[in-house]
Amino acid sequence: MSNYHIKHLEEYYQVYRKSIREPENFWAEIAEEHFLWRKKWDKVLEWDFTKPAIKWFQGAQLNITENCIDRHLGTRANKTAILFEPNNPDEPAQHITYKQLSERVNQFANVLKEQGVKKGDRVCIYVPMIPELAIATLACARIGAIHSVVFAGFSAAALFSRINDSDCKIVITSDGSFRGKKSIDLKGIVDEALEDCAGVKTVLVVKRINSDIHMKEGRDQWLQPLLDKASKECVAETMEAEDPLFILYTSGSTGKPKGMVHTTAGYMVYSAYTFKNAFQYQENDVYWCTADIGWITGHSYIVYGPLANGATTVLFEGVPSYPDFGRFWEIIQKHKVTQFYTAPTAIRALAKHGTELVDQYDLSTLKVLGSVGEPINEEAWHWYNDTIGKKKSPIIDTWWQTETGGIMITPIPYVTPTKPTYATLPFIGVQPALMDENGQELKGNQVEGRLCIKFPWPSMARTIWGNHQRYKETYFSAYENMYFTGDGALRDEVGYYRITGRVDDVIIVSGHNLGTAPIEDAINEHPAVAESAIVGFPHDIKGSALYGYVTLKDIGESRDHNNLRKEINQLITDRIGPIAKLDKIQFSEGLPKTRSGKIMRRILRKIASNEMDNLGDISTLLNPEVVENIIENKL
Ligand code: WTA
Repeated sequence: MSNYHIKHLEEYYQVYRKSIREPENFWAEIAEEHFLWRKKWDKVLEWDFTKPAIKWFQGAQLNITENCIDRHLGTRANKTAILFEPNNPDEPAQHITYKQLSERVNQFANVLKEQGVKKGDRVCIYVPMIPELAIATLACARIGAIHSVVFAGFSAAALFSRINDSDCKIVITSDGSFRGKKSIDLKGIVDEALEDCAGVKTVLVVKRINSDIHMKEGRDQWLQPLLDKASKECVAETMEAEDPLFILYTSGSTGKPKGMVHTTAGYMVYSAYTFKNAFQYQENDVYWCTADIGWITGHSYIVYGPLANGATTVLFEGVPSYPDFGRFWEIIQKHKVTQFYTAPTAIRALAKHGTELVDQYDLSTLKVLGSVGEPINEEAWHWYNDTIGKKKSPIIDTWWQTETGGIMITPIPYVTPTKPTYATLPFIGVQPALMDENGQELKGNQVEGRLCIKFPWPSMARTIWGNHQRYKETYFSAYENMYFTGDGALRDEVGYYRITGRVDDVIIVSGHNLGTAPIEDAINEHPAVAESAIVGFPHDIKGSALYGYVTLKDIGESRDHNNLRKEINQLITDRIGPIAKLDKIQFSEGLPKTRSGKIMRRILRKIASNEMDNLGDISTLLNPEVVENIIENKL
């Protein structure tokens, strides 16, 4: 018997040791006993971090949707697979059973086939949090098309670059989306994005907000009539273990977003196994992750992980503040949610509204509280633990990344004793290492360094779409034979990990990764801007917020600064999306630079964070005089 479900701490240590000593045997047992294969693998693992090349379950054949849907039809046909809670609380929730999900995915898959989509083709999905988002995703997987879900809050320019980068031939979208009181014209954004995408021949449009939109002749089609005609049967495509399942873009510290490529078998096994254990999922639980499927958290822990376990997964269209800040708690009560998984930024925003709203609702069904996306601060941790969990639902602070595909460091609830702000212990099969500045591994406890992973795990991203070299440079070049995460971490006296934050130029704002370079590029497009530098600074709710230092060309000097600020933020909104807007924009005469001309962001970061007395030696700068000026004019 494999150790699919870990129930106590001793068992965790025992299984963990086994997963490290005999990783191949360990993962082969998990894979064999808990998943459906068309053909078993010839080799469990082949890896080389220098190339880098990672292959899990080579030779195996499968289809992930048979694991997420078909195999449950015998025993769970009438069980709710997706529980859809609409934006408007007065609109009834939808319980989509496994049988209905099967039919809807198959119909969607048949429509895609009819539109000429084939195995290996890329399909861009730009759909809000409605059932069709999950269904479209699974429909792609059913026929072996590679989905590229783009978060439906990204701008037309950001959507364009993602469609183009992976050469999508079809885009799935909706006539619009609801977000609280507002509705958003998604189709308009798609139209704008497609002005320059000659490769996209088809746009399928889901009707959601019933708005009067323009349908481009010969390109755009309403989805529903096509679905109505499509068969509810669709034989799943046979996929090789290492065939790509999806591409998901994540920000890098420099350059354009990276299309992380996840493959089929390893991703399936790891997302399902982590889901089962990290959430201690039991049959009849109602699990809710508040993330958007446009992010990795939604891919792994709204769609694939829960469905592979035959779970009921809640899909919420709205926002935590609508119709009021009690919405999350109302939903937990209404659907008797047992596991609740959200981000620290949401916890902080909700905590600000006190306990009165919380106290109106019955949260007694909750068993596990999850946190993801950024470090959770002590105050938020305690509020979550006391007010929401009533000190009886363990908090799992889950550290992982788009690149890792699944949870990497986390307590296992009711197994690992928790500690505020600590992600605690590595998950089964995960071998973390902390490295010092000289590339040496820091052994033992009570050390702090850069977080790396020494050994492959099944759901690691295999490459960056179209740019394997960048994959190698970003993740496998900082330290020899190690995957470098870009995060710093410490290990305490008992071996618990605490993630301290990014050590590169990625800033996490409200749980969203933002690279500084693309934002600076957007700002620098403004005709009055000479140069800019973006840094993060601490923010009560967002965790970090963005502070921009901007120098102006002559033509900008005389302009009204507040207008310029608005224009700069508008440019950022157009190029990336509103999530990347700057909280503060300071105009300065110059930016501190090294003698080789590199902007010293470290100094700017300290100034933005009010750590002026801790700037270090600035005398070696090319232009130390600007520092004083920047401090004087700090916002
Ligand atoms: C950060 C989200 C501290 C980290 C799943 C990581 C965290 C980046 C945590 C990945 C956590 C995520 N504690 N930091 N529990 N979870 N992070 O790709 O910096 O959107 O590298 O994946 O978020 O963000 P991504």
